[in-house]
Amino acid sequence: MTNSTLDLIHAHGSVRAYKTDPLPASMVETIVAAAQRASSSSNLQAYSVIAVTDAARRARLAELCGKQMFIAQAPLFLAWCADLARLDRVCALRGYSQSTEYVENFLIGAIDVGITAQNAALAAESLGLGICYVGSIRNNPREVIQLLGLPRLVFPVVGMTIGVPEKPPTLRPRLPLQAVLHRECYNFDQDQSLREYDRTMAATGIYDQRQVPVPGKPGEVEEYGWLEHTARRVSQATRAFMRDVLNEQGFALK
Ligand SMILES: Cc1cc2nc3c(=O)[nH]c(=O)nc-3n(C[C@H](O)[C@H](O)[C@H](O)COP(=O)(O)O)c2cc1C
Repeated sequence: MTNSTLDLIHAHGSVRAYKTDPLPASMVETIVAAAQRASSSSNLQAYSVIAVTDAARRARLAELCGKQMFIAQAPLFLAWCADLARLDRVCALRGYSQSTEYVENFLIGAIDVGITAQNAALAAESLGLGICYVGSIRNNPREVIQLLGLPRLVFPVVGMTIGVPEKPPTLRPRLPLQAVLHRECYNFDQDQSLREYDRTMAATGIYDQRQVPVPGKPGEVEEYGWLEHTARRVSQATRAFMRDVLNEQGFALK
């Protein structure tokens, strides 16, 4: 089964090289208006997005976000933020005080961000633009919060570069469907899918490293693929300061 929406979705690949020309000013409004159509938990719309086009600010963001220079190159950077500050105002206007101290409150904002940002991504791609999410906006969150002037109860969850691609993106294979689609209840039998995907990803040649020792089999080597790459990635603690920064921004996470 196919249609133009499915074709667009299946054509996605992250773009990390952009033409530097500015986008027409109306483009960001078209993209964010489409993003706003996304579903939202209780229609709270607990997110905000900061559109950054100023070259100096994009360059600073590139520095703060893992020195990823495509961030300075792309004409538009969107900082997607969980935003409970607006709801504080809603409460104040009606004489209430907002409960913001639970993990659930932050989750509501973070989920709204994810859904809304992905709507924006598809809207941008439908206009012939390329995008790349920027999770490393959380590498130096205090500095990003200051740079973007984010108030209490607003937290930068993810960034996104948008611009005209320098060249069409390479499509990165996904896990076999059966690894992510479980029917009726959770299927623990995933090793075959994982090994199949490991070989598929190794064959793309995207990894710098070619061979690694086989765990538990001294002297044997195998191709460096998604399994090794991903195991290395998730065995490291990342951004262990996150709870502290969230607390500082007013998200108590009880
Ligand atoms: C939440 C999130 C954060 C990401 N952060 C970064 C990032 O900081 N830098 C980057 O180059 N790509 C980033 N990406 C892009 C992923 O690496 C990419 O989506 C993934 O490898 C799949 O590749 P594809 O999008 O080209 O299909 C991020 C993606 C998501 C969803």
